Amino acid sequence: MRPDDFKLERFFARYEFKAPYLLCCSDCESMSVQDLLKLQPGSAEEFHCLWLGYTESQGSPALREEIASLYENISTDQILVHSGAEEAIHNLCASLLTPSDHVIVQMPCYQSMAELPRSCGCEVTAWQLRPAAVGWLADLDELQALITPQTRLIIVNSPHNPTGHLFNPEEWQRLIELAAQQDIILFADEVYKYLEHEQAPLPWACDLYENAVSLGVMSKSFGLPGLRIGWIATANRRIFRAIASFKDYTTICSSAPSEFLATLALRHRSTILERNRTLVKNNLLLLDKFFARHQDKFEWLRPQGGPIAFPAFRNPVSASHYAEELMASCGILLLPGSCYDYDDRHFRIGFGRANFPEVLQRWEEHLG
Ligand SMILES: Cc1ncc(COP(=O)(O)O)c(C=O)c1O
Repeated sequence: MRPDDFKLERFFARYEFKAPYLLCCSDCESMSVQDLLKLQPGSAEEFHCLWLGYTESQGSPALREEIASLYENISTDQILVHSGAEEAIHNLCASLLTPSDHVIVQMPCYQSMAELPRSCGCEVTAWQLRPAAVGWLADLDELQALITPQTRLIIVNSPHNPTGHLFNPEEWQRLIELAAQQDIILFADEVYKYLEHEQAPLPWACDLYENAVSLGVMSKSFGLPGLRIGWIATANRRIFRAIASFKDYTTICSSAPSEFLATLALRHRSTILERNRTLVKNNLLLLDKFFARHQDKFEWLRPQGGPIAFPAFRNPVSASHYAEELMASCGILLLPGSCYDYDDRHFRIGFGRANFPEVLQRWEEHLG
């Protein structure tokens, strides 16, 4: 079955490279190849001499070594590198799911999480995040009630796109226990890890549970989406083999220059993450003040992790119309909740970029 249009990506296809002021990006500030190479003396020469043959399908050993060092219980042969996180989502669904499977997806979600299982013919049930007194709430009793004997896969994303919801350690443990009771595969999209605002990062799901598949990527916390390097990590050999052999029909292997640069970035991750965490922290403080000044107009649902949030207009304003008008009148791009098939009073705001203070000020001048 062909998946429906990816609403968010179609919206970005119209505006992302035209809008002068992006206020809804989900990644952190990026950097140039030159700046990345400067992090390690001698790496520019090494990069120039890089051989442009095929690379190992599983990912280069050097890259997998750096990735494996992020985990407690995962080794290099349990990492499978992909072209971005999106290829990994696709390959996992296509290789593991059959039409008789039931899949539970935390919603709202990055659309491929629900759409790809649906396109495999699965029955997909939404596990809804709800606005709470502070931020957002994922009700684990509700998840328990959604599990059926046919449930094969639970898909979660933490820190979450678009709400910034983050499980606490007890909830994370309970989620894993619920999956383990029935040997359900847990697919944990952890692409925003290391951008937690107050809580320490949770252990990767695959470090805690054999039937978990953790998704990581260079695009978000590390701010290097142009590399198109993502990966899955799992201790389950059967799952690993199924996804690895499906990958032979998609990209086969990754780009050698990207693997080189991703390896370098991960080797210097503390420098890159420190810069991005500082940006996100300072920009979030600006957002707190902004929403305090505009309490009459907006509901501020403060995120607990990641570089994005999902606030709402208080009045029945259509965020879709508002976003089109804002783009037309001042070139500022917000992402309406309708792109997530969610209440259109909500919109996504992104605060991982260096020019965020300037763009927020422009928006505020427009708001009056
Ligand atoms: C939660 C989530 N998962 C996966 C992806 C896909 O990442 P990539 O662009 O690296 O393929 C995104 C991108 O926005 C995302 O927000």
